Amino acid sequence: MAVLPFDQREGLIWFNGELVAWQEAKIHVLTHALHYASCVFEGERAYGGEIFKLTEHSERLVNSARLLDYEIPYSVEEIDAACRQALAAQGLSDAYVRPVAWRGSEMMGVSAQHNRINLAIAVWDWPSYFDPEQRLKGIRLDMAEWRRPDPRTAPSKSKAAGLYMICTLSKHAAERKGYADALMLDWRGQVAESTGANVFFVKGDVLHTPTPDCFLDGITRRTVIDLARARGLEVVERAIMPDEMEGFEQCFICGTAAEVTPVSEIGPYSFAPGEITQMLMEDYDTVVRPDRRGQLARSAAAAE
Ligand SMILES: Cc1ncc(COP(=O)(O)O)c(C=O)c1O
Repeated sequence: MAVLPFDQREGLIWFNGELVAWQEAKIHVLTHALHYASCVFEGERAYGGEIFKLTEHSERLVNSARLLDYEIPYSVEEIDAACRQALAAQGLSDAYVRPVAWRGSEMMGVSAQHNRINLAIAVWDWPSYFDPEQRLKGIRLDMAEWRRPDPRTAPSKSKAAGLYMICTLSKHAAERKGYADALMLDWRGQVAESTGANVFFVKGDVLHTPTPDCFLDGITRRTVIDLARARGLEVVERAIMPDEMEGFEQCFICGTAAEVTPVSEIGPYSFAPGEITQMLMEDYDTVVRPDRRGQLARSAAAAE
């Protein structure tokens, strides 16, 4: 299927405080971020016209930039307002929202003390991260060869563009072998996350998920933990070794783009998408939608 290249689309992009025509939202080839990866970004989704957990995303963006030693010249409140403005300008109510901040072109070298910090926000239609049919059956993950780095090696809590280099390499290798994505271990050999989402396992009525000490503690991950606990399920955050995957019954990944997606295979290990995964998929679908959110509180009350 031919996809219209992203630079040839139509609409408006919020760019350093102004709405500019989509195809005019350009930067120079001598941009620090392009050469030295001084770029941080967010991935957000709007449902029914509202960006889910917008302020948490804006806070993480500001913090990601601080971890790369720069300050975005807008407050969290201003970034929230800009995201809403960009969404409204695109005229979409269900959409993907991509704020991105980067060091500009004033200095070209490892040192970039005086570069302008830029911020842009683009919004586009992005229905499902994985093939919807495959998603329901559970996606297949390869075991990635690349590992999440030691926090002493890279600012692993930053949603920094540079940290996605090993994600693209891992995802490409997996896709070449017919998998949808890859599971990455961390520098110690513990289970970490997929290339763009966090991972959970289910055994009996208990959820197990790796402690996020060298990768993103996803906003979706935290939402899923709250939803599971609201259903009375136990959630254990701990170090998980790869051979433990043998004993888990269900597995899913979750992230803003992936939402809650069941996993049927990770390398040699198999899982059967089951009731707990299905329930959390549905609860997540409910909580993200402003018009349905109240239903969750009602079903939790009814279960008590
Ligand atoms: C590498 C990685 N891990 C985890 C996540 C999940 O984060 P969130 O739920 O905040 O989108 C993402 C997506 O942003 C990601 O790219």
